Amino acid sequence: MVENRASAVTLGRGFWTATAVLGIIAIAGIVFWTFAPETMYMLPNVAAQPGADIDRLLRFMLASGTALYVFVVGYIIYFAVAFRVRKTDAPDAIGVQIHDNHVLELWWTIIPTLFLVVLSVLSVQIWYNIQLAQPSNGLVVESLGHQWYFSFRYPQVHGEVTGEMHLPAGQPVVLNVTSADVIHSFWVPAFRLKADMVPGLINTIRFTPTTPGRYPIVCTEFCGTRHGEMSALIPGENGQANPGAQWLVVDTPADFQKWYHAIQLKNANASDALPTASTGTVNLAGGDVKLGATTFQAKCSACHAIAPFTQRIVGPGLKGLLDDPSHPNLVDGDKATPDDIAKILQTGYKGDMGQMPNSVANGLTDKDIANLVAYLSSLK
Ligand code: CUA
Repeated sequence: MVENRASAVTLGRGFWTATAVLGIIAIAGIVFWTFAPETMYMLPNVAAQPGADIDRLLRFMLASGTALYVFVVGYIIYFAVAFRVRKTDAPDAIGVQIHDNHVLELWWTIIPTLFLVVLSVLSVQIWYNIQLAQPSNGLVVESLGHQWYFSFRYPQVHGEVTGEMHLPAGQPVVLNVTSADVIHSFWVPAFRLKADMVPGLINTIRFTPTTPGRYPIVCTEFCGTRHGEMSALIPGENGQANPGAQWLVVDTPADFQKWYHAIQLKNANASDALPTASTGTVNLAGGDVKLGATTFQAKCSACHAIAPFTQRIVGPGLKGLLDDPSHPNLVDGDKATPDDIAKILQTGYKGDMGQMPNSVANGLTDKDIANLVAYLSSLK
């Protein structure tokens, strides 16, 4: 009893005409994505290796995606029109019922499988190229994300560089990124490379800038209320320049050397540069507990409490410094003795507890150190 079922329909000339039209549109799409300039897919011209490889993968995906889209949507429209309900159909007619077409099933399995295999081979190849095949002996630069700016560190440059980041064209770069507070993400669209800046974790990207120029740096992880300022792509208020905008400047090697030497000098003379510590052993004899207490209030109490070790302000609490069984060593790992306390006061400290300026930076004379050691030793 199948009288209300439409008779089986063979695909006639209309189908093949539609297929030809869709084929032409798909080929036009493939040609377009193969040769379109980068700006057509809203990215700036590529300015670093291996950015061109990433663009090739993107072009492949756009071209194949366009062809797929054209055929899928094209056939949906064609079949909806070709097999629409006709006036002559019975009111309760149902369409052609097709199942178990092995030829069709075979092809719709083989074609997507081959496509995905090709896509995964290309992806793994480029991933390998980005992660492992880049030169690892390049200029090592670090970038830290802060709320809300990027800072940079260069070899042989004191402290951090803020504002513009400079790199020389043609030289491989190993860029290590991390964060000083929350999660940020470092992205230079013209390089096509992006790395999350995660506190406590160092992520590395390797690349070679190829074209001198100025390229926007963009934070692509929401990092607080002023996240938007960490993007040179976003303008500031009232048409003003975004006050937080930071740029990556790719210089010619000669220009980079000029900038590098200038920043070395500038940062060496910066106010946060640590003066050289005094050397020589401090004579602790005659240290005065009362004078030491006064000096402690003036110079040390902003960062240290007279309290147990665990009560940190910036540095640890200093009560019972010399006989705390749970902390027999000072933060520098040395055994707590008056001489070692004097040494830390003299040379300063930098480590997982933060940073303490040395005696020159703190304005401590040898007499002050002797007094402080006497005072700290007196606290039980
Ligand atoms: Cu830093 Cu978003």
